[in-house]
Amino acid sequence: MQRIKTALSCMFVVPCLFLATALPLRAQEQAGSQPASSTASPPLNYEFFKAKVEPVFLNKRPGHARCVTCHTVNHAPLHLVPLSPGSTTWNEEQSRQNFQLVQRVVVPGSLESPLLTHPLAVAAGGDQAHGGGKHFESKDNPEWLTLKAWVFGATQ
Ligand code: HEC
Repeated sequence: MQRIKTALSCMFVVPCLFLATALPLRAQEQAGSQPASSTASPPLNYEFFKAKVEPVFLNKRPGHARCVTCHTVNHAPLHLVPLSPGSTTWNEEQSRQNFQLVQRVVVPGSLESPLLTHPLAVAAGGDQAHGGGKHFESKDNPEWLTLKAWVFGATQ
């Protein structure tokens, strides 16, 4: 009797396991094959990110620590790859990783993206608080505009 039970449960468990692993893969493939066509917002551009957004993370603003200083070591949703010893910027591989990591705090095409609301002054429409301070006083700040342009799909 025990044997039959084991055999039966295998018959059910094995296909279930198969489905459990196969389904997420299918979803990923589909997402990969049509990144933007199903939504209205344009895809985030890697070249723009590397050329213009990463420098914002590295830049020192008066009265504030640099984004990179905190966000390579803390456990906030925004996580950046630590700079290699002696490096002042990220290499290609690290930049590609950053590009993926930063997407946790970005909703493409949305002003509600935490990347935009968190470092922006409350009075200018930012959210209530940021452990790292409000780096941008207004929505006219050129660096904030750079972040916004990227979130909205800018390519150059
Ligand atoms: C002094 C350290 C420090 C600096 C500098 C700093 N941050 Fe932060 N940041 C934090 C901490 C701590 C948190 C988590 C607590 C919170 O949400 O405030 C955080 C959270 C965030 C989040 C995640 C919000 C969420 O919950 O989704 C974003 C996005 C962010 N920071 C962006 C930035 C940007 C962009 C810069 C540079 C312009 C920056 N931070 C500079 C400390 C810092």
